[in-house]
Amino acid sequence: MKYIKDFAIVSNERLDDRNVLLKLRPVDGQMPDTKPGQFVQVQAPAAQDTFLRLPISINNVEDGLLWLMVQMIGEGTRAIGQMKEGQSLNLVLPLGNGFSIDEFWNTDSRSMRPQVLLVGGGVGIAPLLYAGRVLKSRGVEPTFLLGARTASGVLERSLFEQIGRVLITTEDGSLGTRGFVTQILSDSQIVELSSFSKIMVCGPKPMMIAVARCAKQNGVDCEVSLENMMACGLGACLCCVEKTINGNLCVCTDGPVFNINQLTWQI
Ligand SMILES: Cc1cc2nc3c(=O)[nH]c(=O)nc-3n(C[C@H](O)[C@H](O)[C@H](O)COP(=O)(O)OP(=O)(O)OC[C@H]3O[C@@H](n4cnc5c(N)ncnc54)[C@H](O)[C@@H]3O)c2cc1C
Ligand code: FES
Repeated sequence: MKYIKDFAIVSNERLDDRNVLLKLRPVDGQMPDTKPGQFVQVQAPAAQDTFLRLPISINNVEDGLLWLMVQMIGEGTRAIGQMKEGQSLNLVLPLGNGFSIDEFWNTDSRSMRPQVLLVGGGVGIAPLLYAGRVLKSRGVEPTFLLGARTASGVLERSLFEQIGRVLITTEDGSLGTRGFVTQILSDSQIVELSSFSKIMVCGPKPMMIAVARCAKQNGVDCEVSLENMMACGLGACLCCVEKTINGNLCVCTDGPVFNINQLTWQI
């Protein structure tokens, strides 16, 4: 079931010079069921030239609040980022398929707890917080690998650290290992890739391709969350299609999460 709902802004926290964290409460008090990896389409009310809704991943759902991490890169996201506590935002949700976490259902009883590696770059870390929280509640040990340009771009670090092991790479070396996330993936002293049941990735496409390649080389199942340009978000306009082994699929409805075996990427 999809909903069009008004949400009241409970808080708007500046995370760094480009990113904000919005915590939203449904005005009617009814929070729709959501899955990690799903997204919402946000109406940016103050932006005169932004008539299309903007797709934003669900960063978390906790204590009756829906969290959105927004990187202010254009008119729509800047307008949303400048909104104040008490104002309201209209959302369409929940959209997309989400990560396949249902295979990890109450795994506490097993002797070997499965391990999942969640790799995020830039604002692509947003859906991984929610994914990590839900996986942990199901007895999975999440390890996060977060990549950013500099230390200040590693957002919500302390929240990730409350959930699982956190590995960090920064391009300038100001935090964690210097370089890209693949620096760590190729160092078996730091992570033994074959020990993971699954890798879940969200971030810039070159990063996702590089991680997909490492996953394939090590025989680990891997899912990526694509951020193709979108308009309707509902499978009608076809502007978000991705070529797959099953033909062109809409990222907004068939994705945004795809197993790398479904994609035609050269990896
Ligand atoms: C499924 C999905 C989940 C997303 N989750 C988040 C999220 O959690 N947080 C967040 O901040 N952003 C997220 N995005 C990206 C976000 O939707 C865009 O940044 C936003 O729509 C840009 O709107 P704008 O009006 O601010 O900028 P525009 O003026 O429309 O664009 C500004 C610049 O950003 C580029 N851009 C616009 N959309 C995208 C996109 N989808 N991918 C890459 N570049 C883009 C444009 O080419 C342009 O260079 C997500 C996108 C998708 C498809
Ligand atoms: S955004 Fe319109 S079909 Fe996906």
